Amino acid sequence: MPELVESSRDGHVALLRLNRPEARNALSPELMEQLAGELERLDPDPEVRCAVIAGSEKVFAAGADIRAMSERSFSEVLRHPAASFWRRLAAIKTPMIAAVSGYALGGGCELALACDMIVAAEGAQFGQPEINLGIIPGGGGTQRLARVLGKQRTMEYVLTGRRFDAADAHAMGLVNRVVADGRWLEEALALAADVAKQPPIAARLAKQAVLVAEETALSPGIENERRLYELAMATEDRVEGMTAFLEKREPKFEGK
Ligand code: CAA
Repeated sequence: MPELVESSRDGHVALLRLNRPEARNALSPELMEQLAGELERLDPDPEVRCAVIAGSEKVFAAGADIRAMSERSFSEVLRHPAASFWRRLAAIKTPMIAAVSGYALGGGCELALACDMIVAAEGAQFGQPEINLGIIPGGGGTQRLARVLGKQRTMEYVLTGRRFDAADAHAMGLVNRVVADGRWLEEALALAADVAKQPPIAARLAKQAVLVAEETALSPGIENERRLYELAMATEDRVEGMTAFLEKREPKFEGK
């Protein structure tokens, strides 16, 4: 069977490419299992400091697999591994960047939203078209979009199924950068390489701290940040970072 997720590595950056072109990278149970499994395999690897999730030039991912969903009974929905897929993604500690070209629709948009940053090609199209199918987003779309776009704009997209383009996504704060169509993957990998240069324990703690902002009120969020900061202060990398600064040289981080 062909790999539904092609995994490669360049230095400390892992690249995971969805590879199901005949179904526009629709998130079949098999593809979700491979993607979550590969991320879980890479997550504890100290050599991996940032992961990029990408599709093809034409499509990031067209959402959940409508063919598979159409045959699912209600009791199967309740037991379906899709629910744990989104939890498994949310549990990944390695910083993740979505490199989006073409369509990121439904579960595809939710997959991008589940990443920590998004780099989009000019021609990328985002949307939550589930309403057109008689359902609603089920992978965090209503929640994560509302946190970034606000209630009114999110309502428009989830109630009409209307798509929005990369420029709008950028203007609304969903996308970190919009790049020329041929450069989306290169730019995402360059951003990942910048993250991978950083001390990896601090990068993971920083990710954890920022994600807490989506969940909690300000004071407990600040308390949590303080604990994570204290952990960062216990690392050898912070000794190296501070010493290198004072010695006016480049730091060499070991992930310790
Ligand atoms: N699931 C299963 N198959 C899909 C699919 C999907 N989400 N999207 C596309 N495909 C299949 C098509 O059925 C078609 O298969 P056949 O060749 O066997 O007919 C093939 O991929 C090519 O599709 P198109 O001819 O439609 O390709 P296109 O390039 O003209 O259009 C597209 C691309 C705009 C992405 C279009 O395919 C599309 O609108 N797809 C559906 C998008 C959608 O509604 N996503 C939401 C899914 S529900 C969801 O995601 C729930 C959730 O939140 C968890």
